[in-house]
Amino acid sequence: MKTIVIYKTKYGSTKAYAEWIAEALGCDVVDAKTVSISDLAEYDTIVYGGGLYSEVINGITLITKNADKLRDKKIAVFTTGITPQDCRAYYDTYVIEKNFKKGVPENVRIFNYPGKMILEELSAVHRAALKTLKKIMMSKENPTEMEKMLVELCDANGDFSDKTLISDLVEYVTEGK
Ligand SMILES: Cc1cc2nc3c(=O)[nH]c(=O)nc-3n(C[C@H](O)[C@H](O)[C@H](O)COP(=O)(O)O)c2cc1C
Repeated sequence: MKTIVIYKTKYGSTKAYAEWIAEALGCDVVDAKTVSISDLAEYDTIVYGGGLYSEVINGITLITKNADKLRDKKIAVFTTGITPQDCRAYYDTYVIEKNFKKGVPENVRIFNYPGKMILEELSAVHRAALKTLKKIMMSKENPTEMEKMLVELCDANGDFSDKTLISDLVEYVTEGK
């Protein structure tokens, strides 16, 4: 069974998880920039990771736009983000609806991991985007719990990555092999 781990990253958080996962699985790990759909034909299992940016999984269209071509493969998608892991409604509903408009295919399983956001490392565009989001959320008269949480998350600053969390994905990929 041949496995590949593909990642798309802006600040290195998803790359770190991808490398931990590839090390645990003993398989290739590549930047999504260097991969095209035809390269994936030789693999039975694909692990795809992307950071969350306004709920969008960075680069996920490699998987969603090619769902038909990939339907015979076992696929694990993982996200990295700063939304707390116990906000299951955020991950299980909001993120899924935004990224898998036709629903999650049967051969795809999704995992969510805490990532990294170091404010001094962010690009000017990203810093401005967070400032605007915070301003919008703070202007709501009766903010929902989700909107209140978003205001706090705009100021999150730190590396929340945790290597021990990859075991669920590694188990999923190796089960039945
Ligand atoms: C502009 C911007 C938008 C973000 N949007 C989200 C988001 O919607 N949900 C989330 O959980 N994290 C969000 N984050 C945090 C990133 O997903 C997190 O830092 C991630 O680990 C980055 O991964 P990468 O370094 O591999 O690109 C955002 C960060 C920035 C700078």
